[in-house]
Amino acid sequence: YQTPAPFPQGFLWGASTSAYQVEGGWNEEGKGPSVIDRASFPPELSDFTVTSDHYHHFAGDIALFAEMGLKTYRFSIAWSRLFPTGEGELNFQGVAFYRRLIDEIRRHGIEPLVTLYHFDLPWALQQQGGWSNPRTVDAFERFARTAFELYGGQVKYWLTINEQNMMILKGDVIGTLPPGTANPQKTLYQQNHHMMLAQARAMIACHEMLPEAKIGPAPNISCVYPASSRPEDVIAANNFSSIRNWLYLDLACFGRYNAVAWSFMREKGYLPQITEEEMALLQRGRPDFIAFNYYASTTVADGQDRGAVGQERREVEDQQLPGIDKSVYIGADNPNLEHNEFGWYIDPVGFRVTCREIYERYRLPLIITENGLGAFDRLAQDNKIHDDYRIRYLSAHIRQLQLAITDGVELFGYCPWSAIDLVSTHQGISKRYGFIYVNRDEHDLKDLARYPKKSFYWYQRVINTNGERL
Ligand code: BG6
Repeated sequence: YQTPAPFPQGFLWGASTSAYQVEGGWNEEGKGPSVIDRASFPPELSDFTVTSDHYHHFAGDIALFAEMGLKTYRFSIAWSRLFPTGEGELNFQGVAFYRRLIDEIRRHGIEPLVTLYHFDLPWALQQQGGWSNPRTVDAFERFARTAFELYGGQVKYWLTINEQNMMILKGDVIGTLPPGTANPQKTLYQQNHHMMLAQARAMIACHEMLPEAKIGPAPNISCVYPASSRPEDVIAANNFSSIRNWLYLDLACFGRYNAVAWSFMREKGYLPQITEEEMALLQRGRPDFIAFNYYASTTVADGQDRGAVGQERREVEDQQLPGIDKSVYIGADNPNLEHNEFGWYIDPVGFRVTCREIYERYRLPLIITENGLGAFDRLAQDNKIHDDYRIRYLSAHIRQLQLAITDGVELFGYCPWSAIDLVSTHQGISKRYGFIYVNRDEHDLKDLARYPKKSFYWYQRVINTNGERL
């Protein structure tokens, strides 16, 4: 394009966090434990008890977000703060915390974007079978309805479940699949079905209770390349897209299982138990928009022929292709891309491809709810963080978003991960993503002081110029 389209007026420039990774206060003021609080992590890494202590620093943090110019802030509600056992009695101190948080966000003119559930299933529900138990679906609907009732007056944008696809594909990492489960894949696809029902019920409830509000799913979507132009590799890439990406969005947006994913589950003996009423429910629960997280693209090869791709990088890729079924697809190297310190490919053009693919398939407005670079940031002598690598990553991705908009994609917001440093899912606090540095190490909490990074001032300018000056 000679002149790429500008970002739309009112574009929601934002940033994201999740409750268990940023709040701390894991057992304060009546909060019940979640699966995360009961999981074990390598002893050299931080656990999730204090994290960035946002629970006690939120007012200062929100003031910094406002200074950065955020138009929206995406955060999640810890389910077990509202309902310590996931169901039963409401914890009024938890209710009050999120009321204070939302008031503070709105007082600064920032639009709250609320994820209902970001990996932290209440432990009491997990002990009764978690997502394998249909009762969890009832509990989720009640939790969602309670959140709509409590905060619906202040919150217009809602997200149902963060990265449901990653929870299914990496069930053992997030902690919703009990260790030693017999037939883990079949269990996970049944859990997936239950989560889909939970999501549909939350979307229906939201539309019923809050006609002005908007709600959508938030999976992790990545474009999938074939390792070569061999037709067998193209089939493998197609398989992987259907199973990794479209299964989840097709259920959310069309209320049906896609043919390839269905055949895959049938062939492997993973088919969930499903009733006609449930399929009717999935048809009724529809999102208003699609939110998605994007970090990297993926490349796959035909699983029958392991000789076709480089051996070395495949090991790394295989780890990134969770739930991998080596007969259907295998991870492959992509010699065209660089990767970050953690082996994740960096692929801004793949971001544009992903936006186009999702928009063409579903024709719903899109918002990016995560995108970012994890790195070992260093606090310099002058208390500055020179994270030029993060600026490079984000600016390249924003540029591609602009091209996607020019292509015709309807995009209404961008929320990089993360607004402030927080503890990564399984690589500690040292893998930092934030615009704001939190002064602590894995085990030494130091003073938890906040230092805006170089990327903070850069993003401030991006927002100020509505994406013109990257
Ligand atoms: C997404 C999650 O998978 O990626 C976040 O929604 C997570 O919770 C983010 O932190 C980055 O991944 P990681 O493993 O580096 O923390």
